[in-house]
Amino acid sequence: MPALPNHPVPVQRPDAMLAAMPTVEVILPHHRYEVLIQCGALDQLGPQVHDRLPHRRCALILDQAIATTHGRQAADSLRGAGYEPLVADFATSEPLKSLDTVAAMLSKLAGDRIERKSPLVAMGGGILTDTAGFAAACWLRGVPLVMVPTTLLSMVDAAVGGKVGVNLPQGKNLVGAFHQPSLVLIDPNVLATLPQRELRCGLAECIKHAIIRDPDLWTWTSENLERVLALDPGAMQTLIARNVAIKAAVVMADEREAGERAHLNFGHTFAHAIEAAQTSTPDESRYHHGEAVALGMIAATTLAVLLDRADRGMLDELIALLDRAGLPVRADNLAPTARLMELMKLDKKVSDDRIRLILPRCIGEVEIDDSVPTRWIERAWDSIRA
Ligand SMILES: NC(=O)c1ccc[n+]([C@@H]2O[C@H](COP(=O)([O-])OP(=O)(O)OC[C@H]3O[C@@H](n4cnc5c(N)ncnc54)[C@H](O)[C@@H]3O)[C@@H](O)[C@H]2O)c1
Ligand SMILES: [Zn+2]
Repeated sequence: MPALPNHPVPVQRPDAMLAAMPTVEVILPHHRYEVLIQCGALDQLGPQVHDRLPHRRCALILDQAIATTHGRQAADSLRGAGYEPLVADFATSEPLKSLDTVAAMLSKLAGDRIERKSPLVAMGGGILTDTAGFAAACWLRGVPLVMVPTTLLSMVDAAVGGKVGVNLPQGKNLVGAFHQPSLVLIDPNVLATLPQRELRCGLAECIKHAIIRDPDLWTWTSENLERVLALDPGAMQTLIARNVAIKAAVVMADEREAGERAHLNFGHTFAHAIEAAQTSTPDESRYHHGEAVALGMIAATTLAVLLDRADRGMLDELIALLDRAGLPVRADNLAPTARLMELMKLDKKVSDDRIRLILPRCIGEVEIDDSVPTRWIERAWDSIRA
């Protein structure tokens, strides 16, 4: 068998319209799929799904926030391609990213007799794509999944890579599956309705990708930040395509997180503790995921500086870029350090009670370390307090 390339490759498709669509291909040992990225791509959803997954029925599971806007456009495109879609929308929030919501989705699929070969199209932010993706993995032991992410974070992260799942009262993302999509379709135009705060959260993950893998992306992001914040179409297409390519490359090298996929958790061991500590904080004063990641990246980089593994200059550059992106660089309402340390030890990535951290060496390179003494981690927490 010919060796498969281990990096995302542009795909040539036969007809002109498809060939023109910028594409990242994800190639795994038993499955391959395309991520299509283009302003206006949503109108092509129906033909693109039908091209790969022809069937009379499909299910379109929507985030309530976009149901009557982009959701309607997606349903029209599916109908135009000949599908009779079941269309159902769901409210989204971390507490609603639950087994109860999965049960409600499964009940819709059962009530509408969605069949084994009917594609399930999951359209919304990461909460919706994780939850509906998990329903797709469970229904009839797995139906084909199409991801249509509508937040920057879900475009560059949640919708690519096959991790789907929900929260339990005991913790985030504790129940889940690996269920790779058959297609990911990204239309940056849908970001026009996304609150700026959510756009900035997505940028935190883009900055994370640059730090773990790509110094050129770091420079590009720094130089084009204002175009990105203004949703310039060309800048958005470039930003998303380059970030999807990094996520895809990491997933292709290590689909099940046996090794380097853990690099994607840069900033996240700290971020998950910040998020877990605020379950009873009122919604308005909570840090959103991307904001917690921004603080977590600063804490992890501070730790690398304290341990003499990274330059102070890198930390200063990171703080400056996050600040320009409108992300928090100091936290004014963090839980006590002892509580945050306790929560870090409860993270599902902990093994044998050791906290596994991703520490940067420089922009473009990180390493995994599970032997950092507790007192240094405590100092890193203290360093991000306002
Ligand atoms: N599966 C993975 O590999 C993976 C990776 C990263 C994050 N995640 C998960 O993703 C979730 C976070 O996702 P998120 O940041 O997209 O948050 P989200 O799903 O909560 O979306 C943010 C908000 O924007 C709304 N929204 C979505 N698209 C919109 C649009 N185009 N216009 C207007 N409003 C819109 C949503 O309803 C929500 O209120 C977390 O639960 C996290 O665990 C999963
Ligand atoms: Zn994240």
